[in-house]
Amino acid sequence: KAKLPAFRPTTQPVTVIPVEASAATIEKGRILFADNCGSCHGMGGWAAGIIPDLRRSGALGDPAAWQAVVIDGVLQDRGMISFKPYL
Ligand code: HEC
Repeated sequence: KAKLPAFRPTTQPVTVIPVEASAATIEKGRILFADNCGSCHGMGGWAAGIIPDLRRSGALGDPAAWQAVVIDGVLQDRGMISFKPYL
């Protein structure tokens, strides 16, 4: 019966990273994201406000951080498993 705090939309801007990849590689990434990530992080990368919005993640422009989270599973205890067996 407790009252939830009011929803506060983020004011943090989306991180824009220049991409140098072919259209085919970008399409492959889109499909991999939709198949493996979108169910939690939001289709097209638009998260609903509970799980991190990857468009605003500090890991986005940091390949080592991305590797640590997505492949090595450093956030496993917080619900972000390692995708090493799948990717
Ligand atoms: C079963 C749900 C689920 C799926 C599927 C999932 N994630 Fe996550 N992810 C999470 C949760 C929960 C967190 C937040 C962990 C925390 O609180 O630190 C997270 C955090 C992250 C972070 C860190 C974001 C930040 O700024 O703190 C990255 C990067 C990430 N996920 C990438 C991915 C990628 C890439 C995929 C697909 C390969 C994926 N996730 C699939 C649940 C999921």
